[in-house]
Amino acid sequence: MRFHVLTLFPDAFRFIADYSVLGRAIQHGLLSVTATDIRQFATDRHGTADDYQFGGGPGMVMKPEPVFAAVDAARETLPASQRERTPIILTSPQGRTLNQEMVNEFAAAPGLVIICGHYAGVDERIRQGLVTHEVSIGDYVLTGGELAAMVIIDAVSRFVPEVVGSEENVREDSITSGLLQHPLYTRPAEFRGMNTPDVLRSGNHAEIERWRRRQSLERTLRLRPDLLATASLTNSDRVFLAGLGWPGDGP
Ligand code: ADE
Repeated sequence: MRFHVLTLFPDAFRFIADYSVLGRAIQHGLLSVTATDIRQFATDRHGTADDYQFGGGPGMVMKPEPVFAAVDAARETLPASQRERTPIILTSPQGRTLNQEMVNEFAAAPGLVIICGHYAGVDERIRQGLVTHEVSIGDYVLTGGELAAMVIIDAVSRFVPEVVGSEENVREDSITSGLLQHPLYTRPAEFRGMNTPDVLRSGNHAEIERWRRRQSLERTLRLRPDLLATASLTNSDRVFLAGLGWPGDGP
């Protein structure tokens, strides 16, 4: 999976190369993250990438020419067969909020081009003529789109084979399965007066699975009941949830 990041702060992405899971995946050639400075594509000698807004108002706007040129250059490095299938993402608080479904969609692409938004925003023609997906990582405003780009890269990379230890982990994780994760315990069995549930040390795998499923359901109902509307639930899950006061997801 290739990530091409177009940014005013390329050094920020050194963090990813040094960071444990992603850094190792890059070293092993499973991922590549190229951070390109948009200023390199400025049309003047000063590397100007932003300008005042037409119509007046506070804040600078990212100019279209360097961003279009940087995206063209990034696309040229892709094999022709991949160009159309490579999303051009803009990080911005105005985008669709990132969720697991979007992450899965991005993970199916051969790579991603990510433009990190900055300042007051980007010239609208960047949206009109370039961007295929505008993505926010939540309803709050960051100082720039770099951290959002790293969040996207991290979440998508987990779906690249061999990046995360076991494929099972990726599938069974909280949210990926549609439910929150069951509680996890490790040694010691007793710690500061807090005990681990006996069932987990019973060796009875069917009972353990049942307990975990119920804990997942109970926790999801308590913390994220909205997820139950789309989670895949068995009849016995529904009966269990109904016993906890879940009103159900259908008419
Ligand atoms: N840039 C500034 N805030 C952002 C957000 N919440 N998500 C993505 N990009 C951003």
